[in-house]
Amino acid sequence: MSRILILFAHPAFEKSRVHHQLLATIRGMQGVTVHDLYETYPDLNIDVRQEQGLLLQHDIILFQHPFYWYSAPAIIKQWQDLVLEHGWAYGRTGTALRGKRITNVISAGTKEEAYQADGWHQHSLTDFLLPFKQTATLCNMQYLAPFVVYGTHQMDTTGISEHAISYKQFLENLRDR
Ligand SMILES: Cc1cc2nc3c(=O)[nH]c(=O)nc-3n(C[C@H](O)[C@H](O)[C@H](O)COP(=O)(O)O)c2cc1C
Repeated sequence: MSRILILFAHPAFEKSRVHHQLLATIRGMQGVTVHDLYETYPDLNIDVRQEQGLLLQHDIILFQHPFYWYSAPAIIKQWQDLVLEHGWAYGRTGTALRGKRITNVISAGTKEEAYQADGWHQHSLTDFLLPFKQTATLCNMQYLAPFVVYGTHQMDTTGISEHAISYKQFLENLRDR
């Protein structure tokens, strides 16, 4: 059984519809640790050793967040900048994360059709995630296919619940495979 660490980031969780339901549905899953970055570090003062320790205790890392300005909320960048240290995560002696798997769990306001070369955003969502993928490669990790919920602006509570169940299955597959 693989151990999964969810690094969760939502700067306005009290207003969240999608991530609120995703987290409620996976609550208490065996082998899954949910780590709420904004709750733990409201002033963005990240405890690097604590975060590195958590990474070492898990096999699969997931950044779970709403898609904001074609990327992630700010605390995820802060986390990357501070936690993925040279000589620890990358570089000649930086092998701490070697062999771990990583990806993003994202909700996007607009529909999947908009994330195409001839669509509104002119690029796929995978294109926008290139910095995450290449950061994983630099840190000797394998970047997996992301879990994406598209079209949240027009999604009702039934639709959100269906995606939450898919998310739980996604985690079960990762954990048990
Ligand atoms: C600051 C901000 C930036 C956003 N940028 C994007 C974006 O680039 N692409 C997109 O599809 N949706 C974008 N959205 C919509 C959010 O992704 C969407 O509201 C969110 O995923 C819904 O999840 P929640 O109910 O958990 O907040 C943005 C929303 C905000 C508030």
